[in-house]
Order: sequence, then C-alpha cells, then structure tokens
Amino acid sequence: MSIAQAPNSLQTDAFRKDVLEGLTATPKRLPSRWLYDGEGSRLFEEITTLDEYYLSRCESAILHENASELAAFAGADAILIEYGAGAGIKSQALLTALNAPAAYVPVDIADEFLSCTLERFGGRFPELPICPVVADFTSDFDLPPLPSSGRRIAFFAGSTIGNLDEGEAVELLMRMRIHVGEGGRALIGMDLIKDLGTLAKAYDDRGGVTAAFNLNVLRRINREIGGGIPLDAFVHEARWNPAERAIEMHLRCVYSFSTSVGGQVVRFIVGETIHTETSRKYDLPRIDRLVELAGWTRRGTWNDEKCAFAVVGLEASQGGESSALAAST
Ligand code: AVJ
Repeated sequence: MSIAQAPNSLQTDAFRKDVLEGLTATPKRLPSRWLYDGEGSRLFEEITTLDEYYLSRCESAILHENASELAAFAGADAILIEYGAGAGIKSQALLTALNAPAAYVPVDIADEFLSCTLERFGGRFPELPICPVVADFTSDFDLPPLPSSGRRIAFFAGSTIGNLDEGEAVELLMRMRIHVGEGGRALIGMDLIKDLGTLAKAYDDRGGVTAAFNLNVLRRINREIGGGIPLDAFVHEARWNPAERAIEMHLRCVYSFSTSVGGQVVRFIVGETIHTETSRKYDLPRIDRLVELAGWTRRGTWNDEKCAFAVVGLEASQGGESSALAAST
C-alpha cells in the first residue's frame, strides 16, 4: 500500500524550513518525518516485508498470537484510537481480536491514508463505526465526539515511538492519557535492545531497500523545494549510538561539493553526514521510566518467541495527574 502525501503548500513550507535549518546546521540533520513522501512510504512498506526487518513481522505475530489476552486487556465495547494509523494495516489484527469494538479512530496527518482505511475497513468490519481524524499526533488535537461505551484504548504501533526523543515521547503519552480519559488504557509497540548485528542488518538490508528509502529524501528535496544535490554524492549508513541506545540513519557524503537548495547555497564536505532518523530501542526499565513520566503504569507485556519486540499494555497510574507531575520533577 503506498499513498502519496499530497505536497500541499503548508507542508512544503514546513519542509523547506526544516531542510534549510538542518542542512546549514553542524552536524547536518533532517527530521525523519520527511522520509515519507509517496515513494518513501512505498519503500517503507517494502522494508516491512524484508527478512532483515523483523519489527513488523514480530509485532504482527504478537498481536495475532495474544488476541484473547489483548481483547481481555481492552475489555468489551472498546474504542480503539490509533496514532499514525497510516493505511490501518497494523490495527486490523487488533480490531479482529477485540470483543465487539464500539469504534475505530484512526489519526493520521495524511487524509489519503484515512480515506483508504475507511474504504477497506468498511468491507472488513461493516458494523464498526470509523471516526477518522486528520491531525499531526505530535501536536495537540481534539478527538471528535465518540460513543460512550467501553474503554478508550490508545494504540501506537510499529515502534514509531522510538523516533521521538524522550521529551516528545512523554508529551505524546500524556496526550494519549488525556484522550483515553479515566479508566482508559494504551497498547504501545516497542522494539527491544538486542545484539548489534541483528539491529544493524534491520537498518541496512542486503537488497539496499533501506538505502533507497534513506536516499529518497534527497530526491524529495531536489523536487519539492528545488535543489541540485547529486544522488551519487551520498551513501546510506546505519550506526548504533550507545548513549541514545538507538540506531541512527545517516547519509554520508563521499565527495565535497556546493549546490543551491531552496535558493540557498549549501556546502557539503566529504566524510560529513546528514542524520536522517533515530530509532530508539528499549528494555523494560527504559520503558517503565518513559511511561511513568507520562503518568502511566505498565500492566501487560507481550513478546514474540525470540523477545525481539514488545507490545506493552498501559493503565493510568493511581493518583493520576499529581503523580505524573511529581515523577517529572
Ligand atoms: C516506521 C519509524 C518504526 O524506525 O524502524 C525503517 C522506520 N527506518 N527502516 C523504524 C525505518 C529504517 C521505522 N519506523
């Protein structure tokens, strides 16, 4: 499934600002959200089918194999709110598992994704009310009026939380707690720390799909804001950052050159890199610290057989707001 994020002018302005800021900074960087234009989304879908990229396969196995426990955790008549729903592929397994879900609320910045979800889910779950929300989940947004039924369950899959730094992740987890309200719960997919060989291969596959995914952002810059970056001047690099406990994607410059980008001359020096993505990896202490800062307590943990990935079930901590504030000071 690949759906282009229509390059509307607001998006293009934000893109130009991030590119000029990021490419004139030292070291150079680009926010990872810009990896996902039409071609980037298609390449990411292809990554999820690769042998080396275990994340999607493990998460999907966890959701299928623990369907009844997950349904019990959510409770009957639950309302499932999915942050960054995309084409809704990850939520299908969960919705199938749930006991008579009362509504599905996919949240995504790209409304093309949401209309496609509406169409596909209409066939698959004809009884299920779908209430799509077009929003950037990294900023505040309101939910539409929802049926008053069972629990609200926030669902954030794919270890996308790992792209957020700790402050951003805590902010999002707090927003989720407000969205689900009293008695609400959350299910979060998180990739686990493991041997570096496995991690490195997942982000630098033999077939070069991840490399193409990373390099595509340069093509997007040239096309959408006007630039003359030669694609052969960069190679894909995935590296482990031990301090962040994260895999980072970089584009390494292999010869020096200057070119105009969005009307501004930018110099690239051989050997320097553009940092394009950070994918944080977790263990249980790191997960607990993160969710507790946002006022949640971990109540359930589901793993694949190799314990490569985790889906954690969260419940609002006792004492609510005040203990969240105490924990963050
Ligand atoms: C979609 C953000 C979870 O970080 O693993 C895949 C994106 N980057 N290969 C990840 C990605 C390189 C992916 N997320």
